[in-house]
Parts: sequence; C-alpha cells; structure tokens
Amino acid sequence: MTRMTELAATFPLTADHADAAAALMAHAYTDSRIGATPWSAGSIISSLASAHGFGLGINTGGQPDPDAALAGFLLARQLGSEAELLAIAVNQQERRHGYGRILLNTMIGRLKQEQTASVFLEVAVENHPAIQFYQIHGFEISGRRPRYYGSQDALIMQLSI
Ligand SMILES: CC(C)(COP(=O)(O)OP(=O)(O)OC[C@H]1O[C@@H](n2cnc3c(N)ncnc32)[C@H](O)[C@@H]1OP(=O)(O)O)[C@@H](O)C(=O)NCCC(=O)NCCS
Repeated sequence: MTRMTELAATFPLTADHADAAAALMAHAYTDSRIGATPWSAGSIISSLASAHGFGLGINTGGQPDPDAALAGFLLARQLGSEAELLAIAVNQQERRHGYGRILLNTMIGRLKQEQTASVFLEVAVENHPAIQFYQIHGFEISGRRPRYYGSQDALIMQLSI
C-alpha cells in the first residue's frame, strides 16, 4: 500500500505560512529537552527574507499544496559551500510518518545541486529523538557549545554531502 507520506511533497515556505509555522513550532517545542525557543512569525519572516535563507513546508494532502495545513517545515540558510539547518518541526500527531525525512532529504537534494559541501546544525544534548533523527540521516557530532540553550549544552552536528 502506498503511504500518504510517499505521495507528500514539499513546497517553498513563504511569509504567508509564517503564522501557521510559528503556531506549529510553539506546539512542537513544548518539550523542555528541545532547549531551543520557538520562533515567532516575525522571526520566521526575517529568516526567509534574509539573503541566504530559505524554508520548506510539507502538508498531509498528498500534493504540494501550499494552502493546506502544514504537517511540518524547516528553515535553513546556505552560504557558499556551507549550510545551516536552523529549525525543523513536525506536528506532534504527524510524527514518525516520514515527514521530517522528506523535508531533510529535499533540503539536502537542493543543497547538493548548489555545490554545498557540509550542513551544520545545533541540537540540545537532551533532545535524543532529534539527535537520533539526525544520526539516521548521516549527521555526526562535531563539537559542543556549553550552555548554549540556557542550562543545556548544544551538540554541533555535521553532514558532509
Ligand atoms: C525531529 C523531528 C523533526 C522528526 O520528524 P518526524 O517526521 O517525526 O521524523 P520521521 O518520521 O521522518 O523519522 C525518520 C527517522 O528518524 C528517526 N526518528 C525520528 N523520530 C525519532 C524518535 N522520536 N526517536 C528515535 N528515532 C526517531 C527514526 O529512525 C525514523 O525512522 P522510523 O520512523 O522508520 O524508525 C520531530 O520529532 C520534531 O518535530 N521534533 C520536535 C522539534 C525538534 O526537536 N526539532 C529539532 C530541533 S534541533
């Protein structure tokens, strides 16, 4: 049977999605182990508007329909041969259905086309689900930032692509 997520596709996140993305993030980041603070709609718009920023969204509709409800999204920036994954979130009730994987793989595919060599990210040391998610996609721990998230350290993770 074809899973819905195999039919789902991403679309470019725009300022029009900022309110929905901020609401999704506020809900998705309630677990204190995540460490990071959810972004406001204004911060999301600023990130998308920055020279090197971009975002991807995904919905559950089976088609890349920007008007349907968001299942998840990511924000990133790319500068020369390096890129940074700034944020990724999938709705609580949509997790473990492959949406995060599709978002990440779509971003990596896009970055490969732009000759990006490495992707970096920061993740709270206690955010074990996200660390496993990144490791399964080939990211490796390359450093640590003490007390980056208040009392929590951040791991720096890197993927060579
Ligand atoms: C991290 C996150 C984006 C993953 O999204 P997702 O759509 O649930 O991930 P996927 O379904 O694509 O998972 C792909 C694989 O990653 C791994 N994985 C994902 N979530 C996991 C978890 N909670 N525990 C262990 N492994 C996990 C699994 O190997 C999974 O494959 P499987 O389901 O076939 O076993 C999601 O959990 C989330 O939004 N978390 C809260 C926000 C957050 O922590 N963001 C990162 C901040 S740095």
